Amino acid sequence: MAKEKILVTGGAGYIGSHTVVELVEASYEPIIVDNFSNSEESALKGIESILGREVVCHRIDCNDANALRGVFEQEQDIKGVIHFAAYKAVGESVAEPLKYYQNNVGSLVTLLQVMEERKVYNLVFSSSCTVYGIPDKLPVTEQTPVQKANSPYGNTKKMCEEILTDLATSGSNVKSIALRYFNPIGAHPSAKIGELPLGVPNNLVPFITQTAAGIREQLTIFGNDYDTADGTCIRDYIHVVDLAKAHVTAVARLLEGKAESIEFYNVGTGTGNTVLEAVQAFEKATGEKLNYKIGPRRVGDVPKIYADVTRATEVLGFRTTSTLEEAMKSAWDWQLSLQKEPAKV
Ligand code: NAD
Ligand code: WQD
Repeated sequence: MAKEKILVTGGAGYIGSHTVVELVEASYEPIIVDNFSNSEESALKGIESILGREVVCHRIDCNDANALRGVFEQEQDIKGVIHFAAYKAVGESVAEPLKYYQNNVGSLVTLLQVMEERKVYNLVFSSSCTVYGIPDKLPVTEQTPVQKANSPYGNTKKMCEEILTDLATSGSNVKSIALRYFNPIGAHPSAKIGELPLGVPNNLVPFITQTAAGIREQLTIFGNDYDTADGTCIRDYIHVVDLAKAHVTAVARLLEGKAESIEFYNVGTGTGNTVLEAVQAFEKATGEKLNYKIGPRRVGDVPKIYADVTRATEVLGFRTTSTLEEAMKSAWDWQLSLQKEPAKV
């Protein structure tokens, strides 16, 4: 039987590349679409080296409806789409909001129009826990109210969820599953794919690994006067391979015709860890001593957030298998593999 084709926009990126690997391992046929605005061709080589086979990739922009039509035409019989393609730098989105609305909201609308034309009705969308803003109650469930986003980036995720909800209400045939990711970290255990931050990382774990590798001098922990056990912020750090697997189960649910017109799921571990705990987990997992200092709070930071993952567990059969230490170790192995190929750093 022919394998079911899944279009993966942003499939060369961090979460997309890991999902492509998991899709193949679950016997789907991923078709990557990426414009390489935030990724490199080397990601494809990494995927292919893990899988021991080639993967199809179309170098196009998801805002280009004709190019998307061409992909659907050429590939034929695409059963579903996972839409990762978006910009994700929170600070940049404050400075250049239109770039974010165009790429993140614009590309979703274009993609949905082409999907309807081509009668492809299954979509998994990359959303984010950022839609919960600063929650009043923890852990957050999918019923926790979505709040005003505190950045244009966050607002694009909220708007995209609203677009999918409106489309569902309109009676469209498109069914969507929006996965609200918490904090993805780590890399594939092969260390052949991982996160490739361009320039100075904004996110904690790449900053930790680059500091331990001597690329950055010191990690600054943003504030230790929050209302938490050690005063540093709390996040729900999920191994990227566990997150990738959630996409496979979401696709399966859509393709089996089990999904409602729109569904939302939190995808995290269900456990919150402080920044200091994350640092300690890194040190323990790798044996490296991290050079860090406590600095002022970062403007706009959510003090604490972690997921209630009951719905994903019960409906999608979602499970996390990696500990924080295992995720940190995989991030470090990836960092070390990058050092061997300086062109990628
Ligand atoms: P990433 O930047 O590594 O991957 C995104 C990929 O999309 C890149 O390969 C980029 O080149 C591509 N891309 C961007 N715009 C495109 C366009 N118009 N056409 C074609 N390709 C395009 O990011 P990621 O961390 O893998 O995130 C994937 C998705 O998950 C994004 O939608 C992001 O907002 C969302 N998300 C990420 C996180 C996180 O912490 N990494 C958390 C929550 C949600
Ligand atoms: C984690 C923790 C920082 C760097 C961002 C986006 C959010 C979502 C996930 C996509 C925080 C602390 C960090 C550093 C530090 N992305 N930190 N020193 O803030 O949860 O969210 O990524 O949807 O939208 O805003 O992730 O990795 O930046 O920070 O102390 O150098 O690490 O204060 O507590 P965050 P992060």
